[in-house]
Amino acid sequence: MNPTELERRALSAVSAAATSDELERARVEYLGRKSELKLALRQVRDRETGMTLNALRERLERAIAEREAELERAELDRRLAEERVDVTMPGEPVPRGHLHLITQIRREVEDIFLGLGYTVVDGREVETTHYNFDALNFPPGHPSRSPLMTLFLDEETVLRTETSPSQIRTMEAQEPPVYMVSLGRVYRRDTPDATHTPIFHQVEGLAVDEGITLGDLLGTLDYLLKALFGEDRSTDFRIHHFPFTEPSVEAYVSCHLCDGSGCTVCRHSGWIEVGGSGMVDPNLFDVVGYDKERYTGFAFGWGLERIAVLRHGIPDLRELWRNDPRLLEQF
Ligand code: DAH
Repeated sequence: MNPTELERRALSAVSAAATSDELERARVEYLGRKSELKLALRQVRDRETGMTLNALRERLERAIAEREAELERAELDRRLAEERVDVTMPGEPVPRGHLHLITQIRREVEDIFLGLGYTVVDGREVETTHYNFDALNFPPGHPSRSPLMTLFLDEETVLRTETSPSQIRTMEAQEPPVYMVSLGRVYRRDTPDATHTPIFHQVEGLAVDEGITLGDLLGTLDYLLKALFGEDRSTDFRIHHFPFTEPSVEAYVSCHLCDGSGCTVCRHSGWIEVGGSGMVDPNLFDVVGYDKERYTGFAFGWGLERIAVLRHGIPDLRELWRNDPRLLEQF
């Protein structure tokens, strides 16, 4: 074996190796157990040959290690170039959802009243006829008590037809002063059409304190109407009747479509009703044990879908339940 010639061959094989596999093959060939060099080393008899061959082995090992490092660096460079992320490229668009219009209005109304110092209380969707009717002063033969209008779960249990039972529950739970709103779903046996859905949402409000007057009611509702519909909408209040208020008042805003001149949406009146209200009937104070000589109060109950329709000109209430993104995305 000629060490010089072997070294030349080995070094050129090492530098020719373009991958770590090829390099490993060269290592096995020139430094493996059956390589010429290893066989020769095993047969060494004199010191000088031993030193020559060992020095050769070390040089080859070093050359292989260096080539290995080179290949690794080249591989790393290649991957860095290939896998580079261009952070200036626009990202993949991720469509974002948002709250349903009714939820937005619900939170907006809650915020308006929280700002006025009211508390927000939860009501119950399943109510007893006591809270839904009796305690609210509904007379025995009132049409709302009919199973044709109200969804009964059994003789004494209904899906609440309005959020007003929350008034009774709140007053039973605390002493005056009371300033609360309660928002949620209500249920009625209505056939769906453009202006009715059997489930909808209401906001109930109740204020009970010493010296509360009709003026406080009208001022509060006027503030609410302007906050919801803008300063330039006209508001109007008309006498009405509800079992649990005396006197009772209905709030109106000028029609968004015709701005008061009369169209089909407002049935040619120029006005659209937003909801009921009134001064709390003292009979309710008897039910909950409040001193009706000392306290007065006002209450109101408005539909959130109604507010959405009035504000955005949605022509059909059922649209709010269809969940067509083409409609919902607009709000
Ligand atoms: N509960 C009534 C309804 O659903 C709305 C209402 C009217 C609520 C007058 C009130 C009120 O609190 O004072 O039609």
